[in-house]
Amino acid sequence: MSSTEKMTILSGIQPSGNLHLGNYFGAVQQFLQFIAEGHRCYYFLANYHALTSLRDRDRLLDLTMSTASDYVALGLDPERCTVYLQSDLREVCELQWILTTVTPMGLLERCHAYKDKVAQGLSADHGLFAYPVLQAADILITRANFVPVGQDQKQHVEVTRDIAQYFNSSYGEVLTIPEPYIPESVAVVPGRDGRKMSKSYGNTIELFAPDDEVRKQIFSVATDSAAVADPKDPDKSNLYSILKLFCKPEASEYWADRYRSGGLSYREVKQALFDAFMEKFGPARRRRQELAKEPEYIKEILRRGAAQARGIGIPLVEQVRDAVGIPRL
Ligand code: TRP
Repeated sequence: MSSTEKMTILSGIQPSGNLHLGNYFGAVQQFLQFIAEGHRCYYFLANYHALTSLRDRDRLLDLTMSTASDYVALGLDPERCTVYLQSDLREVCELQWILTTVTPMGLLERCHAYKDKVAQGLSADHGLFAYPVLQAADILITRANFVPVGQDQKQHVEVTRDIAQYFNSSYGEVLTIPEPYIPESVAVVPGRDGRKMSKSYGNTIELFAPDDEVRKQIFSVATDSAAVADPKDPDKSNLYSILKLFCKPEASEYWADRYRSGGLSYREVKQALFDAFMEKFGPARRRRQELAKEPEYIKEILRRGAAQARGIGIPLVEQVRDAVGIPRL
């Protein structure tokens, strides 16, 4: 990507749980980077998608508004990017329908996210199956060039590319083919138990939990039973992998040396991780507390964001309707 060219960037987060370090390093950090580089950025809350896993009206409403505040507190500045609710751009569902008509069943049957969720016991309903087509519509409706996501969403962006290509080969070059954007260094953020950090595994460190809760989460990161005096291998330490996300190269080297030379207690590393966490997220955490008192301000941001997203999304859907042969009367 050349540094001068202005790109359209789009990404979404499901408001189905509290934001955690995996969301930050896997996604939000890249969102901020694209804003800082001056691209056209669209970041939305995928509340239609959340319906596939959350059937609790009040909790969905709460999480939708609180995740919007989280985004803003983390620096998604409404002056420099568009923050909106998926449900405020309803035309995305119409685009989804049209896209389903060019989507082979086999493409969706191969999706890991679907297969994993069904394996975990979620019911295999049609919404869950069609989830990637709605995601494709989210992306294509803005003509996004790049989609910053975590590794787990790479396949969905590839499916989006396939769907867009199927559409274009039937109807002409209408849709822009997007690319996933996943920096190698942040591809997978490990959780407290060493598996990928995910709210469905209950192994997260939450960005906006109260201080004592954050401390508890950090101090419960799993470690082996090596004694303090023992030399330890940083590359086998899940705790080190999490700490490293906060470190400049010199600091990661420092901690790696301390691991290898022995005499380091995991307690000390956990304290260092807690301090690094508070230093990095302290300002956002304070801002988040202020925003909690200003729900009207958040709604206003979302209304403005909706108007901007509609300004680009509706003309795209009009063009698609026209391309497939839906009359404009
Ligand atoms: N499926 C994504 C996730 O769970 C959320 C999402 C929905 C999304 N639509 C999107 C991400 C469009 C990127 C682009 O994380």
